[in-house]
Amino acid sequence: MKVAIGSDHGGINIKEEIKALMDEMGIEYVDLGCECSTSVDYPDYAIPVAEKVAANEVDRGILICGTGIGMSIAANKVKGIRCALVHDLFSAKATREHNDSNVLAMGERVIGPGLAREIAKVWLETEYEGGRHANRVGKITEYEEK
Ligand code: RB5
Repeated sequence: MKVAIGSDHGGINIKEEIKALMDEMGIEYVDLGCECSTSVDYPDYAIPVAEKVAANEVDRGILICGTGIGMSIAANKVKGIRCALVHDLFSAKATREHNDSNVLAMGERVIGPGLAREIAKVWLETEYEGGRHANRVGKITEYEEK
C-alpha cells in the first residue's frame, strides 16, 4: 500500500505522528506538506493529496488540519474521493468496511496524537466489506459520473 499524506499548520504534529506509524507498519508514503509553522491554506494540501488518490498514483490519502473539516470538504470535491472525517475508533473501522473511504481526515485541535495514531492504524488495516455496501457506494460513483 502507498499513502499520500498532507496537513496544514494546524495538523503538522499529527502528520509527523502518522508518518512514524507508517514507518513502523512498513507502509510507503509521500508527504505533500506542509513543512511550515506559519499559516497556510488547507485546500492547497487537501486537493493534491486527493488528486493523487483519484489518479491511482497512491492507494489512500491521510489529511490533518485543525478540525479535519476543511480538509474533508476540500478532498471530497475531487471526483472519486470518499474522504471520511474520523475522531473515534468505531468510525475508523466502519468507514473502511462500509464506505470504502479512500481518504482519512482528522483534526489536531480535536484529538490527541495517541488517538490519531490508533485511528490511522485501524483505518489503514481495515478492508472494505463490499456486499450490500457496494450498491450504496456505487450510487455515489454513479452520481459523480453524471
Ligand atoms: C486553520 O486555522 C484552520 O481553519 C484549519 O486548520 C482547519 O481547521 C479548517 O477546517
